[in-house]
Amino acid sequence: MGKDLPIKNVFVSGGGGKVGTALLPQLVKAGYLVRALRFEEEINCPGLMEIMDGDLRDKTLAPRALKDMDAVIHLANCKENKDLFLDTNVAGTFYLLDETKNCGHIQQFIQAGSDARAGIYYYPRPFPIDENFPHAGYPGYYPLSKVLEETLCEQMRIQYRIPITVLRFSWVHGQDDILAHATLKGPRFGVPVWEELAENEEQKRFVSEGLDAACRMDHPDGTPGMRHIVALEDVIQAIMLSIGNKAAIGKAFAIAAPAPFTYDILSEYISKN
Ligand SMILES: NC(=O)c1ccc[n+]([C@@H]2O[C@H](COP(=O)([O-])OP(=O)(O)OC[C@H]3O[C@@H](n4cnc5c(N)ncnc54)[C@H](O)[C@@H]3O)[C@@H](O)[C@H]2O)c1
Repeated sequence: MGKDLPIKNVFVSGGGGKVGTALLPQLVKAGYLVRALRFEEEINCPGLMEIMDGDLRDKTLAPRALKDMDAVIHLANCKENKDLFLDTNVAGTFYLLDETKNCGHIQQFIQAGSDARAGIYYYPRPFPIDENFPHAGYPGYYPLSKVLEETLCEQMRIQYRIPITVLRFSWVHGQDDILAHATLKGPRFGVPVWEELAENEEQKRFVSEGLDAACRMDHPDGTPGMRHIVALEDVIQAIMLSIGNKAAIGKAFAIAAPAPFTYDILSEYISKN
């Protein structure tokens, strides 16, 4: 149950996604009555109060989704997609926020933010980047939508006192995701797409012959690229600590591992393992 706020019934969008799949069992375990939105994937979580089928782009969804709910955890997002991001991420978030305003019974609206809103590794910048660093998404529709989602949240909080908590996750990693990211073979996980960056003959040969390699990204000045990640477990813990927590209302938090990694350390680690 909620810590300070009387929260019992929780609507979760993106319940079938990476974060949602890990979060739902923890919410159930903690005693929340959960209505999870199902869109593309199956949701297999015993103990949910309800699985609701729906599309964020559908204006009529929000009143049904938020009916009798005390809190919203908004995780659904279509990532990098020029055709879908405005309707799904921006309009979809607005419909939920607007219904939160209209219905008047939502005690907390937890918005999944991203460090993409600060441009992560893309621009030279002061270090560390804290929560007060202004929005500065790197090129792409995903960062643009994370900035627009947060801007909607900020304005709806100011204009209508909507009780919003923004949790800005760094790149979320499960157990072996980093190997799937930085090895040439194997499942693709995250950007960059190494194959597209092959420049010299040797790199191109690795791609064309399907050979494996430990990849690394360097900054233009030749220093190894630096990125921030966060463990999936820590993301779930951040959500569980935030929900029902009055002190988290009206705040944005960066949810990241204690230190970033650099690609030189990563590629060395991978080549040895
Ligand atoms: N995974 C990361 O590295 C990461 C990092 C920072 C922030 N985030 C943010 O955290 C949130 C959750 O991320 P994730 O990794 O679980 O994402 P995911 O891609 O695994 O899941 C997204 C979910 O959104 C749903 N969805 C997509 N379009 C929809 C629509 N039109 N209607 C309803 N549902 C729809 C999908 O079905 C899926 O369940 C997102 O807001 C994302 O931007 C993720």
